[in-house]
Amino acid sequence: MTPIALDAARVAGWRATWDTMMTGFVPGLSAFERVLTTAAEALRCGPPARVLDLGGGPGLLAERMAARWPDAAVTLVDLDPVLLELARAGLPGEIGVIGADLTSTVWPARTGGGHDLITAVMAVHYLTPAAIRALYAAARDALAPGGVLVVADVMPDDGVPALMRVLDPGPGEAAAELAWAQWWGELAAVPQFQDLMTARAELFRDRPPAGFTADLGWHAAAARDAGFREAGALWRDGRHAALAALAGGMPCSRS
Ligand SMILES: C[S@@+](CC[C@H](N)C(=O)[O-])C[C@H]1O[C@@H](n2cnc3c(N)ncnc32)[C@H](O)[C@@H]1O
Repeated sequence: MTPIALDAARVAGWRATWDTMMTGFVPGLSAFERVLTTAAEALRCGPPARVLDLGGGPGLLAERMAARWPDAAVTLVDLDPVLLELARAGLPGEIGVIGADLTSTVWPARTGGGHDLITAVMAVHYLTPAAIRALYAAARDALAPGGVLVVADVMPDDGVPALMRVLDPGPGEAAAELAWAQWWGELAAVPQFQDLMTARAELFRDRPPAGFTADLGWHAAAARDAGFREAGALWRDGRHAALAALAGGMPCSRS
């Protein structure tokens, strides 16, 4: 699709509101990002050189990782044509933005291999369990030896009954859902987005509802089944947690 003309200030505003909205869904988001960057540097013995953000939306995390690691090649993958447009319009040109479906084999082919860090933040709950397993296997293949996959999402504590997970989404989540509806409503009213909104509706029409949640133990087991050497908790805040999974092969070494 040809890029549309968007006012830079409005793009910045929509992306900033998205960031606030995501913090509504994940109140510990900034703490998570601090843990993520510290862990990535420790595990790779320095700044990662190649970074991939899966389901990166309008690219706030990609932008922050690129700012922290200016020499890294940072690439974002997403499916949503509206969010991709905001990423392309709002991100510095050196950050790669790739439109691809995480349930296809297109994204590994288009992003190459040898990544030191692959992230997926609030993205895997859009996928089915089988698609998450396939994603973990593809991510393992796309990592450099000793590279790390970090997946942050709703991963309720082990042992919490499934029904309670649904009934108790957390106090801030209703407000975040409202902010989400308002944000999308505002974009839908912008004439330049009409075609992209139509394309988005087509893309998501036949997909399963974004609601798969499993505990961290499930994700860790799925990562190990996919061939990761080690997998476990990196961070937790309430119902939200992050899995870190280490690819096999030679880890980095300090010289
Ligand atoms: C809640 S948003 C999170 C976006 C971003 N990671 C963040 O934290 O701001 C979920 C993202 O996953 C993307 N997504 C969902 N299913 C996808 C798929 N099959 N392939 C690629 N991206 C997908 C959505 O388009 C959306 O950008």
